[in-house]
Amino acid sequence: MNMRDSEYVMGILMDRGFRKAKSADEADVIIFNSCSVRKHAEDKLFSNIGDLWKLKKRKPGLVIGLMGCTAQSYKDAALERAPLLDFVCGTGNESDLPAIIGDILKDRCRMVAADKVNEKKHEIFPAYRDETFKTFVSIGEGCNNFCSYCIVPYVRGKERSRDAKDIIREIDDLGSRGFKEVMLLGQNVNSYGRGEGTDFVKLLCEINKLKGIERIRFMTSHPKDASIKLFEAMRDLDKVCEHLHLPLQSGSDRILKLMNRKYTVKDYLKLAESYRKILPQGAITTDIIVGFPSETEKDLKETVKVMKAAGFDSAYTFKYSPRPPARSCKLKDNVSEALKDKRLKTIMDIQCRIAEDINARLIGQPAGILVDGCGSKDPRKLTGRTRTNKVVVFDGRPDLVGKFVDVKILSATPYALKGKIV
Ligand code: 5AD
Ligand code: SF4
Repeated sequence: MNMRDSEYVMGILMDRGFRKAKSADEADVIIFNSCSVRKHAEDKLFSNIGDLWKLKKRKPGLVIGLMGCTAQSYKDAALERAPLLDFVCGTGNESDLPAIIGDILKDRCRMVAADKVNEKKHEIFPAYRDETFKTFVSIGEGCNNFCSYCIVPYVRGKERSRDAKDIIREIDDLGSRGFKEVMLLGQNVNSYGRGEGTDFVKLLCEINKLKGIERIRFMTSHPKDASIKLFEAMRDLDKVCEHLHLPLQSGSDRILKLMNRKYTVKDYLKLAESYRKILPQGAITTDIIVGFPSETEKDLKETVKVMKAAGFDSAYTFKYSPRPPARSCKLKDNVSEALKDKRLKTIMDIQCRIAEDINARLIGQPAGILVDGCGSKDPRKLTGRTRTNKVVVFDGRPDLVGKFVDVKILSATPYALKGKIV
């Protein structure tokens, strides 16, 4: 989501005559786009801003700004914590950026604009995209779920769905410009259009009809809102890829309750089982947090049990960190850092073995790949992704980047597959 926001801001600035600098050294304006989902990212951000003091000394006219979730959460306080900052731009104020930068260049003032966190974004379509054949498309902003550990509802505001006609128009345009794959983005795509007489499956059906685009992906699905109807659409709509990102967070009902996730392990596994029945070749990936307040070894064992039962193709794993004003901050962060590290390693090792088994079963099988890159040292080493979002490495001509090829899988590791063009 942040990558898409950076690209959007780059687009609106380029439409006003700005150009992309090759490096920070040659830039006149540097904008940090920030994530505050975990504390680590926030600390790294402020240390990176601080690192610019030498450059600022050499180029006193340099404008340094902060956008994204940390900007929204800190507002004026970011100017205090980072004296080098000229401006702070909240998550709803991105379209104000050209004006903010213009004012600073004119008056050399420091500015904070963070008053539009709950507003719908202006439907402007800057043409600029970082990539030429696959890209992100935001279908909505914000989140109403208030999982107890999560800062997102506070910094991204309440859930707002973009109008379907604007999304369709954007994707139609991308298709006519040669894009082959879109990734639809929302904090909870399955609640798209709720209360507005439409829903996510209807949106998928509309996008599936568009010419040009050949692959449609989406993330993230909340288990309380993902449905059999969605899985059937994934099966029946030819362009929708067979990959579901379904964050589990914990395999313990007690912890899930404390997390305010609104489903039980039984609900989750039933959902995963329906998915497997409807899409036997489909992949499921997940997010898991270890070390949530009061988590015991028994809770962790339950998480491991669910991981094995669900058979995740991959998992993003995180150590819990308190994110004020998220509600879990009221609970004592009582799992030590050492224990969090140990638990993280435990589940990463388990996941590694699960993925190894799943991927080994693909050896000898054919797969359709969208080639997405070639090696910088050896441009004949290509990489691409299957419809199930697995990375495949294989030999081929660099001009295949951005095109579809058929490969046969020759070998597998937990993280990637090796293939041969057929
Ligand atoms: N601590 C650790 N991980 C978190 N996530 C969200 N908030 C926190 C937190 N406070 C993780 C969740 C979410 C992913 C994007 O980040 O697993 O799904
Ligand atoms: Fe955060 Fe929960 Fe919303 Fe995801 S669904 S963004 S974890 S509050």
